[in-house]
Amino acid sequence: MISRQTIDEIRNRIDIVDVVSDFVSLKRSGQNYKALSPFTNEKTPSFYVVPSKGIFKDFSSGKGGDGITFVMEHEGMSYVEALKYLAKKYGVEIREDDRTPEDLAAQSERDSLYIVMQFAKDYFKETLHEHDEGKSIGLSYFRERGFNDRILEKFELGYSLNEWRHLHDAALKRGFSEAVLEKAGLIIKKEEKVYDRFRGRVIFPVHNLSGKVVAFGARILTKEKDQPKYINSPETDIYHKSQVLYGLYQAKNEIRKYDFCYLVEGYTDVISLHLSGIENVVASSGTALTEEQIRLMRRFTENVTVLFDGDAAGIKAALRGIDLVLKGGLNVRVVLLPDGEDPDSYSKKLGSSKFQEYLKAHTKDFISFKIELYSADAAKDPIKKAELIRDIVTSITAIPDPLKRTVYLQECSKKLEVPLSILSIEVKKILLAGKVNEAKADQRRVAEDVLSTSLAEVHTLSKSFLLSVEESLSLFEKEFIKVLINLGHLKASDDEYAYEYLFRESQDVDFQVPIHQEIVDHYKVEVTKGNSMKPDTFLKAIPQEDASYISGFLVQKYYISEGWKKHHIYIGDEYAVEHSAHKVIMQLKLGIVLKMVNDNLQKIKEATTKKEQDELLVIQTRIDGFKNAIASELGRIVLPNLKQFQDQ
Ligand code: CTP
Ligand code: MN
Repeated sequence: MISRQTIDEIRNRIDIVDVVSDFVSLKRSGQNYKALSPFTNEKTPSFYVVPSKGIFKDFSSGKGGDGITFVMEHEGMSYVEALKYLAKKYGVEIREDDRTPEDLAAQSERDSLYIVMQFAKDYFKETLHEHDEGKSIGLSYFRERGFNDRILEKFELGYSLNEWRHLHDAALKRGFSEAVLEKAGLIIKKEEKVYDRFRGRVIFPVHNLSGKVVAFGARILTKEKDQPKYINSPETDIYHKSQVLYGLYQAKNEIRKYDFCYLVEGYTDVISLHLSGIENVVASSGTALTEEQIRLMRRFTENVTVLFDGDAAGIKAALRGIDLVLKGGLNVRVVLLPDGEDPDSYSKKLGSSKFQEYLKAHTKDFISFKIELYSADAAKDPIKKAELIRDIVTSITAIPDPLKRTVYLQECSKKLEVPLSILSIEVKKILLAGKVNEAKADQRRVAEDVLSTSLAEVHTLSKSFLLSVEESLSLFEKEFIKVLINLGHLKASDDEYAYEYLFRESQDVDFQVPIHQEIVDHYKVEVTKGNSMKPDTFLKAIPQEDASYISGFLVQKYYISEGWKKHHIYIGDEYAVEHSAHKVIMQLKLGIVLKMVNDNLQKIKEATTKKEQDELLVIQTRIDGFKNAIASELGRIVLPNLKQFQDQ
């Protein structure tokens, strides 16, 4: 247990702005500070720091509290972890009260993963610098690549001996359990056998934002074909690959300073740039950039320069990176290296200052980048040019901020010599296509909503065995009205609106609940007048009491924008509409047949002659046939009305 005094001392030293600034770029706003929420993916800042009170408040996630809470929330640390982190930051010596064995046992599991990873990192470093094999193989490899002591220390590089259980044994000796080594991904257990995951490789530790090691990447030094070039830590409780950027811990201050960040492919690219004096650089480490990684970057800068190899694979990765970064709301620029070069080889070839100059001179906005990439083809071939335009406009459309989109469109218009109006139309088409897809998904959800509530209701009611035939019929009628109002104006098939289908199938039906009949009649009148059948318009056209009856089961979210109609865009997810309409018709018919069954049974009971009874029984069999047919089409068993049996 950390002593009370220590905790008080930490609390006294904390400067909330300072604590938060290690993770988030704050902008002054009067007495306070503001930033984009580090907890959500928001577009406008709603994260506040109030220095006078020593607190933060994040309105988009609802989180808030003091500096300790912030570190806990942001870094996913326990209270004790956060205290230790802050004690280290402010140079407070931690005094601990005596711990009971229970306290020790209760130490969080993540705590122990961090500790064992730190142990492993120190062990790999020591091996690199002290051990003969480490020095002769690992260190000489790094030296050959031009890694100096400062770099080795900054990135805490290491070496793992080419032995099966060296780390394993050293860790056990220090009191770590095999279980924790395995949880940390440091050893592998396979059918009785236990061995180190990383063997005979140089080690690149991966740090989280607070500088703790959460994973390792281990590069092979020999040219064995059946071995992967890198072996990486697996996902663990403290390492989620998609949420970490390699080099961010070492880069964060420089990224803030220059307000932009280079994005490269791998471990050695990051280090090569540092060697060339460029420290605002991160890598996604061999995977396509994830949304979470972009969000992470966005906390330090909004400007990303993608720096990839000049070969086909590099170009492909750059193109993919561009769209992802744009979609994440960041500004993107691109530098492509000459074919066959990567940041490592090219920085060595040119030397630091020439390399820096090259990067500056060859950084392009993504539009110019794409134009150049396709320019040879596009100049001669109008079809290729049209493709290029669409490609660039598609990228621009991914930008969430409309103002930025306009600026880029103007740029694109100038560079491609295409009128802005044509590009704007293209953007609208793409945006609209996206919305149509959204609307289709939405429509299906609503249709399913309408259906599932009605069926659920029917099920509970009939399960209780107490629903009278009249009650169930009025329930089915209500479902019919519900679907008619909500979906009636949509197409149920190529040549029929849902209301047309519903009316065709229910033409002989007399609704037993008067208000249901009234609403159906109103609907027919409005249709005949050629009026719009959209729920809101219909509601306005009918008497107040009918409208208030309906509004109770109106699906509010189901309103279609006028914009789509204007563009004659047809947004029916026909299947969903047709499905709902069909189901509701079947239910209604079932309700009617059940009532017929009921009425007929009553007549049989009241029949006075044998002949009369026999005739009614024949009718009864035929109605039963209907009932079963409908029920089987509805896919459920119709429960008999218990009251009926009891009465007989
Ligand atoms: N990578 C990986 N596993 C592999 C190959 C690559 O995880 N089998 C990831 C590593 O993060 C690596 C990045 O992809 O850093 C880029 O791969 P590559 O260019 O092959 O490696 P470099 O780190 O550039 O190594 P070097 O400069 O020594 O070629
Ligand atoms: Mn590489």
